[in-house]
Amino acid sequence: MNLENICNEVCVLAKEVGAFIINERKSNKNIHVETKGLHDFVTYVDKTSEQKIVNGLLQILPEAGFIAEEGTSNKKGEKYNWIIDPLDGTTNFIHGLSPFAISIALTDKDKIIIGVVYEISLNECFYAWENGGAYLNGERIQVSDKKEIKDSLIATGFPYYDYKRIKPFLLSLEYFMTNSHGVRRLGSAATDLAYVACGRFESFYEYSLSPWDVAAGALIVEQAGGKVSDFSGKNNYIYGKEIIASNSACYNEFFNIVNQHMSK
Ligand code: IPD
Ligand code: CA
Ligand code: CA
Repeated sequence: MNLENICNEVCVLAKEVGAFIINERKSNKNIHVETKGLHDFVTYVDKTSEQKIVNGLLQILPEAGFIAEEGTSNKKGEKYNWIIDPLDGTTNFIHGLSPFAISIALTDKDKIIIGVVYEISLNECFYAWENGGAYLNGERIQVSDKKEIKDSLIATGFPYYDYKRIKPFLLSLEYFMTNSHGVRRLGSAATDLAYVACGRFESFYEYSLSPWDVAAGALIVEQAGGKVSDFSGKNNYIYGKEIIASNSACYNEFFNIVNQHMSK
């Protein structure tokens, strides 16, 4: 299987679907918003985008199954599965803010072998395949070489429905706010990870995420020379609902602070 070719085909598909999403955003249509859960929204744009992505991926790799946020297909593949977030940053999208992205990963058993994050509003396609390096619109990318948190820009996501760990989270946030260049909350976890991969952020952490938020971006960070783990330093970051991603030089310092506050 030629991972580079498949990855390129996925990028083309993501850009096609991204064009649909941005056109819907620019049209003056009233985008009806449904509520899936507390502060958790979905629109016909999320659902139509996922349908288009699933249809396109079926052409690219017919034997692969799907883990897709909006449930378009639940068919599981024996070996290969796509993990899809058709619109990461729906709340931004609804409010007319950037960023919002499409996130598509391919797994072989439980290993991620392809990751594509297409940030639609800036037309930036981040992608990686196993042992192939990481790229942004055709150019190789790398994590930053900053060595200490005091020189770093940190990204996170604020909890919006699972408040059980909010107190330790706020203490960790206070630490980073007072000991770094600052903390950003962009509203798209896939984009946060892509921005760690290309060195715009040094480190990112968030809890209560789902596999489709992180699978593609995690591979892109690793292939760009960064490190990814859960809050205990283990590898359970796709299904374990918590993730740390960092450039390699800051990983240990960043991990220690997150672990100290947030490990269960
Ligand atoms: C959300 C975004 C957000 C993160 C949330 C996710 P959605 O995804 O990634 O940054 O904080 O936890 O659910 O719902 O817009 O696909
Ligand atoms: Ca998401
Ligand atoms: Ca989504």
